[in-house]
Amino acid sequence: MNFLTIDQVDDIISAYETPLYVYSEQKLRESAEKFCRFPSAFGHTVRYAMKANANINILNIFRKKWLKVDCSSEYEVYRALNAWYEWEDIQISGQETPKSLRDLVEKWVFFVATSFRQIEAVWKIAPWANIGVRINPWSSSGAFAAISTGWKVSAFWIWHEKIPEILDLANSYDLKITKIHFHIGSENTPEAWTQSADTGFEMIRHFPDVEIFDMWGGFKEAIMPYEQSADLENIGKSVAWSFKRFEKETGRKIHLEIEPGKALVINSCSLIAKVDDIVDTGDWGYSFIRTNTGMTEMPRPSMYGVQQPISILNQSSEKQKYVVVWHCCESWDLLTPKLYENETIEEVLLPKAQIADPIVFDGVGAYSSAMSVKNYNSFPEAAEVMILENWEIQCIRTRQDPKEIWKNEILL
Ligand SMILES: Cc1ncc(COP(=O)(O)O)c(C=O)c1O
Repeated sequence: MNFLTIDQVDDIISAYETPLYVYSEQKLRESAEKFCRFPSAFGHTVRYAMKANANINILNIFRKKWLKVDCSSEYEVYRALNAWYEWEDIQISGQETPKSLRDLVEKWVFFVATSFRQIEAVWKIAPWANIGVRINPWSSSGAFAAISTGWKVSAFWIWHEKIPEILDLANSYDLKITKIHFHIGSENTPEAWTQSADTGFEMIRHFPDVEIFDMWGGFKEAIMPYEQSADLENIGKSVAWSFKRFEKETGRKIHLEIEPGKALVINSCSLIAKVDDIVDTGDWGYSFIRTNTGMTEMPRPSMYGVQQPISILNQSSEKQKYVVVWHCCESWDLLTPKLYENETIEEVLLPKAQIADPIVFDGVGAYSSAMSVKNYNSFPEAAEVMILENWEIQCIRTRQDPKEIWKNEILL
């Protein structure tokens, strides 16, 4: 297991109903500190992409480590404020134009426009505001297609060939564009960073007011033994070199921003569940472990075919091949897919399981609780607990009362 001990799992299971998420405060602090040490030429800001996990306690830990936040919707902004973030430490770079845009920019939330409509919207209400623009540079990176966002199939931003139009619009409106923003994918290759820096600086040349280059998140953090984490030191140094070269050529010292989501939180959380049943499809079929969790807690295996580390906690020395499945009545509620093929099952070798054995899934801190297929089959949201640095275990979100699921329904 990543950070949990067998004794901790036993203690937690005796106090809480499974499935439940368990966070490590220590891991969260350590990963924030790691990103604060990211090398840079002229200083850097770490903005937590809070879409990865917006629990108030996680935001609070990162805020105390001086991380700022990037929000994908106005609701995330209000959630960050609820975790005592200052307005000016918040950036919004979402697809949907915020209905409360005026309120946000008037209170100094930094607005990154991701379309022409958004540039116009901010000009109409706050022509004095400094803004950022998110540009699709037509170069993508990412572990698999669904999380590679820099191609022409991706609508999250303004296409790079339209830079002259952005400049014309900014000039005619007298709008100050002070930040260029990229996000070309998740779990990027190291080369993508240097390539992006060079592409970005080619663009920044045309924007005289740009002071900040927000180079996105997308840092790989290994959760499976065959994966490799991003080497922050090397990436930072190679990117810093591009920043220095630009300064030499133009005299402009550009500030770096990075926006990690997944890498900050993914390894700080594990999910504890139980083996609910064991079934098979005969001599030529498969043995299935059915668990009391699923895409209701961890959607990424079902959505993307990503694999998660699995530990079954029992005394068995015998091993057996299993397909692990979830509790939702849905054939793609599958935990052991073939890598990046969410509909293809793959067997994994695990200790011979018994009904009610605890089963732990590591690497679920990002895009799990935050992206759960909430209340499908009317399963309530799982509780979340945190192991504090003094080893105390505290509940940070209670299990949802099932009545909450239907409380907004109106009987006709
Ligand atoms: C604008 C933006 N910034 C940062 C991130 C974080 O990416 P990751 O979680 O891969 O670090 C995302 C993820 O989609 C994003 O869209």
